[in-house]
Amino acid sequence: MLKGKHIILGITGSIAAYKSAVLCRLLVSAGAEVRVVMTPLAKQFITPLTMATLSQHPILVDFFNPENGEWNSHVKLGEWADLYLIAPASANTMAKMATGVADNLLLTTYLSARCPVAIAPAMDLDMYAHIATQRNMEQLREDGVHIIEPGTGFLASGLSGKGRMAEPEQIVEAVKALFSVKKKSLEGKHYLVTAGATIEPIDPVRFISNHSSGKMGYAIAEALSQRGARVTLISGRTALACPAGVERVDVLSARDMYEACVERFEESDGAVMCAAVADYTPVEVAEQKIKKSDDNLSLALRRTDDIAATLGQRKGHRVLVGFAMETEAEEANAQHKLERKNFDFIVLNSLREQGAGFRGDTNVVTLIDPTSAEKLPLMSKSDVAERIADKIESLNR
Ligand code: PMT
Repeated sequence: MLKGKHIILGITGSIAAYKSAVLCRLLVSAGAEVRVVMTPLAKQFITPLTMATLSQHPILVDFFNPENGEWNSHVKLGEWADLYLIAPASANTMAKMATGVADNLLLTTYLSARCPVAIAPAMDLDMYAHIATQRNMEQLREDGVHIIEPGTGFLASGLSGKGRMAEPEQIVEAVKALFSVKKKSLEGKHYLVTAGATIEPIDPVRFISNHSSGKMGYAIAEALSQRGARVTLISGRTALACPAGVERVDVLSARDMYEACVERFEESDGAVMCAAVADYTPVEVAEQKIKKSDDNLSLALRRTDDIAATLGQRKGHRVLVGFAMETEAEEANAQHKLERKNFDFIVLNSLREQGAGFRGDTNVVTLIDPTSAEKLPLMSKSDVAERIADKIESLNR
């Protein structure tokens, strides 16, 4: 898929620059032609020799070669590229990109680029969470830059949290996804997608949750985004990386998910409710770990708010798609949810079907709307997501 594609790989000053070597290698192996542009500071983190050898071309840092005055034309470079990928993108470079500062070749190339731009941020968790960084990222998103979300884990500072650059393999997948965009049929639309499992704390160490991996919801977010929609993925617990170009809002409990959805629904064109949301939550969360005793333990649970039903009441002209995870009387239960929650259509999956439901890469679903039911064969969750996107498109709202 990347054969013959021209990719500029921009590298900024971040410890994650060591991963750029593997990234460059993977892009070249996949058939891409890669030219590397580095900021002056990036050279402290990974050598130009390494990157020149892996990309099979001299790397570019300065506006001109001081030895012979040869000009490194950022304009020509920007015209040459099919994609400008900046990985790692430091907080400093993101801030400059967001405000149009052009004090190095990597940034002038950004301002000259006519191709899509993707960035893979990398920084310490507090820098990443800082309101200024988040504001810059939001600005870049609005400017059409695809953000390849960082992962959560061990950071160079010794702390652990969100800010780790996505792994090279994930970045390559995101790049392939960008090139695979065919039709921008949902351009201008904004959808919320819920995915993953919610977590209801019992005490500081225990919680109530379920088996959702997030795969189905993430595939839907990706499919809608690839059709040009702006997608906000409201994600419960999962181990998945955020699809390229999708904005992710991490939540824990059903209450958090409720607030995140309700807050954003009005300004959206609709929502796909794929998350497996807890129906009950402990009445009280113990402040300390509950000690075991020889007696049985009963937990008092209360109902959570039904997010989908709430959005259904406020739906107006928006599209609302639900899921039904059933273990018996599947169609009847799904029909009931379709009506009660005011969905345009509902995606039924049953634990009685082989290859359907939680965790796996496949699903078997029936798409049910007020007038018809279409059962699809066993297919990958990505293909199911495409069929759901087709149906959303056909609603033409
Ligand atoms: O994440 P994966 O491992 O890929 O698995 C995918 C999946 C099985 C989780 C997915 O295909 C699925 O079926 N999701 C919905 C699971 C579920 O909670 O279904 P439900 O029948 O309990 O809920 C019906 C609908 O109401 C759903 O759209 C649900 O998101 C929504 N709901 C439920 C409860 C609640 N408090 N608020 C809600 O919005």
